[in-house]
Amino acid sequence: MRNIFLAFLLAPTLPLVAQAQQPVEQRITNLLQQMTLEEKVGQLNQYSGRELTGPASARKNDQLNAIRTGQVGSMLNVKGAQSTREIQAEALKSRLHIPLLFSLDVIHGYKTVFPIPLGEAASWDMDAIRLGAHVAAKEAAAAGIHWTFAPMVDVGRDPRWGRVMEGAGEDTYLGAQIARARVLGFQGEKLGGTDAVMACAKHFAAYGAAIAGRDYNAVDMSLQQLWETYLPPFRAAADAGVATFMNSFNTLNGVPATGNSYLQRDILKGKWQYPGFVVSDWGSIREMVPWGYALDLRDAAQKALTAGSDMDMESDAYHGNLTKLVQAGKVDVALVDEAVRRILRKKFELGLFNDPYKFSSTGREKQVLNDPQNRQAARQVARKSLVLLKNDNQALPLRREWGKLAIIGPLAKAKRDLDGSWVPEADTTLITSVYEGLDQRLDAKTQLLYAKGCEVLGDSRAGFAQAVETAKNADAVVLTVGETWDMSGEAKSRADIHLPGVQEELFQALKATGKPIIVLVFGGRPLIFNTIADQADAILMAWWPGAEGGHALADVLSGDYNPAGKLPITFPRAVGQIPIAYNQQYSTGRPVTKSGDTKYRSAYIDTPNTPRYAFGYGLSYTKFTYSDLQISRPQLAPTETVQVQFTLTNTGSVAGEEVAQLYLHDIVASTVRPLKELKDFQKVLLKPGESKTLTFNITKDKLAFYNQQLAWVAEPGEFQLMVGSASDDIRLTGIVELLP
Ligand code: GLC
Repeated sequence: MRNIFLAFLLAPTLPLVAQAQQPVEQRITNLLQQMTLEEKVGQLNQYSGRELTGPASARKNDQLNAIRTGQVGSMLNVKGAQSTREIQAEALKSRLHIPLLFSLDVIHGYKTVFPIPLGEAASWDMDAIRLGAHVAAKEAAAAGIHWTFAPMVDVGRDPRWGRVMEGAGEDTYLGAQIARARVLGFQGEKLGGTDAVMACAKHFAAYGAAIAGRDYNAVDMSLQQLWETYLPPFRAAADAGVATFMNSFNTLNGVPATGNSYLQRDILKGKWQYPGFVVSDWGSIREMVPWGYALDLRDAAQKALTAGSDMDMESDAYHGNLTKLVQAGKVDVALVDEAVRRILRKKFELGLFNDPYKFSSTGREKQVLNDPQNRQAARQVARKSLVLLKNDNQALPLRREWGKLAIIGPLAKAKRDLDGSWVPEADTTLITSVYEGLDQRLDAKTQLLYAKGCEVLGDSRAGFAQAVETAKNADAVVLTVGETWDMSGEAKSRADIHLPGVQEELFQALKATGKPIIVLVFGGRPLIFNTIADQADAILMAWWPGAEGGHALADVLSGDYNPAGKLPITFPRAVGQIPIAYNQQYSTGRPVTKSGDTKYRSAYIDTPNTPRYAFGYGLSYTKFTYSDLQISRPQLAPTETVQVQFTLTNTGSVAGEEVAQLYLHDIVASTVRPLKELKDFQKVLLKPGESKTLTFNITKDKLAFYNQQLAWVAEPGEFQLMVGSASDDIRLTGIVELLP
């Protein structure tokens, strides 16, 4: 009954039932024709409703009044089936009963927290990454959320920038694959299901290239670099049907992204014909004033809307100014109508006009949020995120003869930290610590000893003695080190990315005992720990593995699960090497020679050019060989495809997964090309002794780049093909020539 009632209100000219069956664009047109200018502007406003469901407050009353009178299009940070139902009811009291969109930062889980996105990226497993987004969407949608501000698809090459934790790492190709997987995970195949939410490709664009790795800073780059490195993951998200985009805090070549019509209108809505809408980042319209790009909030509102920012998140710029700007002829009402149309389109596609309460079911919320399958999924994805960086002397899997195991370090019993940043419903009661995971996994014969040793931060060494004593009483040590959860994420740039505090000193004190030491590193970014890297027996990069982290780590440490993660971002030896992404390495006119001679070469006098751990690197408990490279033809015409085939063999004694990677180098081109660019990869499970023939297809598109005229071209000439286990572990090479 409600649907017909609403349909009746929206188009009084047609028979009731027919209205609901009208094409969406017609229904939007009908609604737009009824809307006043104030009501149109109302749809462009988004506010944070943290206080909305709390005790009475002035802000709460103002917000509720604005909602009731059709001055709000969306709320963020209102969550829960009951709360969203209540607030939606307020919105439906407005003259045209237009429902609200409820949004939230569901970045790597709602209630069940998955590894941080950078950790998920280390799985190189698109099914796993899609699963994580799907479970997050299921839970969020059950809690009344329509729209998540994810995936973040910013290419993140600079580990000083704290938000690398939210993305897919430094590579464009991997980032594009992951962008697609996450959009499909959050949205499903079609919007409207109550087990899916709208996704949001953010932050458009090039936010990850902030100068000096300092958050919110300016970005300066060639348009060739923008198109080649930073835009493709956004295009992949758009091609996957992402419902919305979010712009970014940075400027691009002097123009704030929020006021950047080249980005939002020329590229996104023009060249790409993107049908969704763009939401500003939090307050980014208002921030064009301190940027020195807008004179005041009114000027900022005019510049933002004109440049294609459809919805104003928390600047309150459109609310107070757009109506007057239109009435004064400063903003064309057609631009307002276009923005409103884009927003209403999503509300229709979600089915909110037919049933505004469809996502706000307390019964479904209870059932979905307590589904044990969600935790099983989180454990599965967490296992895949772990990267084995070192394993000397067969330190891992833990040896059965080790009857006493010392679990030492500031993160051994940590819980909240394991969830990492951006967790709206972090519930520490749901988190399994490393200590608990091992305690539950290892049999009664293995005695666990514990010492904290030191804090993550601070210079107190008071706990060293007890930690050393504990190590001496054990057969081996598992040492947990890293950052705290809030040392990466938004506004968490670090000028020094060494392990904080005295953690490496603690390692050295433990190393002196002569016991085998397995180090678990936690953090939201690459960290520098050269002493540990040189002297530990084994090292696992755990990122922030989420609520099931303790179990996932126990699965790997015990050998129940053979780690297969690969680094999605380079780990430098020194901050001074940054930028050090693998695809920012060029031959130069003076390359370091094979012999390592660096005299008058492009090199440092105090550090090698090579990173501590390379992009694509990660070990396994087994070994893989690559052999029998076959290239189907030495030359290809622009319309042809070359098959690159090779045999991958598991030569070890346990089953394992390998991510075989294909890199290309355009040897001579009109724009100098990076020494390596990832162009494809395959993740394969092989039993001990098993071999498999793998094929990569090379087409002209994989050989193309943006030239000086910004044309996407593949130039005739020779290309080096490289197949390997990491960007610095190439096993097979060949040459293919592109013909004119
Ligand atoms: C933040 C972030 C953005 C987030 C938004 C809403 O400042 O930059 O990623 O989605 O505000 O919380």
